[in-house]
Amino acid sequence: MTAVASTTAPGAWLVHLWAPPEREARLLRLLSEDDRQRCARFVFPWLETRFAVAHAALRVIASRHGAGPPSQQRWTKGPHGKPALVDSAFEINLSHAGDWALVAVSHDGPVGVDIEALAPERVSPGMVKTVTSELERAAFATLCEPQHSAAFFRLWVRKEAMLKALGTGLTRRLGTIDVPLQTEAPPDGVVLRPPVPGRRPWLWDLPAPLGYLAAMVVLQPEGEPARPPGPLQWLSLDDLDPPPQSAGMG
Ligand SMILES: CC(C)(COP(=O)(O)OP(=O)(O)OC[C@H]1O[C@@H](n2cnc3c(N)ncnc32)[C@H](O)[C@@H]1OP(=O)(O)O)[C@@H](O)C(=O)NCCC(=O)NCCS
Repeated sequence: MTAVASTTAPGAWLVHLWAPPEREARLLRLLSEDDRQRCARFVFPWLETRFAVAHAALRVIASRHGAGPPSQQRWTKGPHGKPALVDSAFEINLSHAGDWALVAVSHDGPVGVDIEALAPERVSPGMVKTVTSELERAAFATLCEPQHSAAFFRLWVRKEAMLKALGTGLTRRLGTIDVPLQTEAPPDGVVLRPPVPGRRPWLWDLPAPLGYLAAMVVLQPEGEPARPPGPLQWLSLDDLDPPPQSAGMG
């Protein structure tokens, strides 16, 4: 089995989290036994479907990068629960929100991805205080609606992508990170306190469906030039689970 060369640019895939019941049953076969058990614990069927599609997508994309057949891949978890492939030449991360999932892959170092639905009603002074650093709070104080809530969600997805690249998730205080607030983020605009020795975070906003925002971060080795992700790719249900008549073709 050939792994993708390390010169490969990072990539991101968007997946719509829906499948009819008969396709969902087939997608479940792409998962591990553990994932199938997690899936079975959802009370609401639509949550089960979303989980099955998102995790099938994660495994199919990993497989396309040389990780072996989806159901046979070996995965582990970092100290704060970040899933990672065992003995892999690349890193991969998943995010889901509402009807959508994003999967990001990097051959240059740890990767984190986040997609969030824009929901201005979730933005409160308390939330802004929790999420922002001192520097960012000062910038927020100058903004009025609707710029205020749009900036909040830009900041949120950029920070969560950063935390997911680090693997800490929300166990790391969000105020220890500065990210750019403006619409067009400079990719080198992330400041970590303390920094990660030998690594530099590169931030990339990703295209997202209407009403959502998305970003990814790659922690590249210090001194290497920025490597932007290729164009966002769309993964359809047929890419995950080809219908019987097209199975084995193309
Ligand atoms: C990582 C975290 C911010 C994700 O929040 P979320 O709102 O579920 O966001 P997303 O949809 O973007 O990401 C979920 C996916 O990220 C991945 N993930 C889980 N923990 C992660 C971590 N520490 N770092 C990076 N990615 C992680 C998983 O693939 C997860 O998908 P799954 O739950 O379907 O398996 C949040 O779960 C967190 O802070 N976790 C760390 C602390 C914690 O609770 N640890 C408990 C386990 S030790």
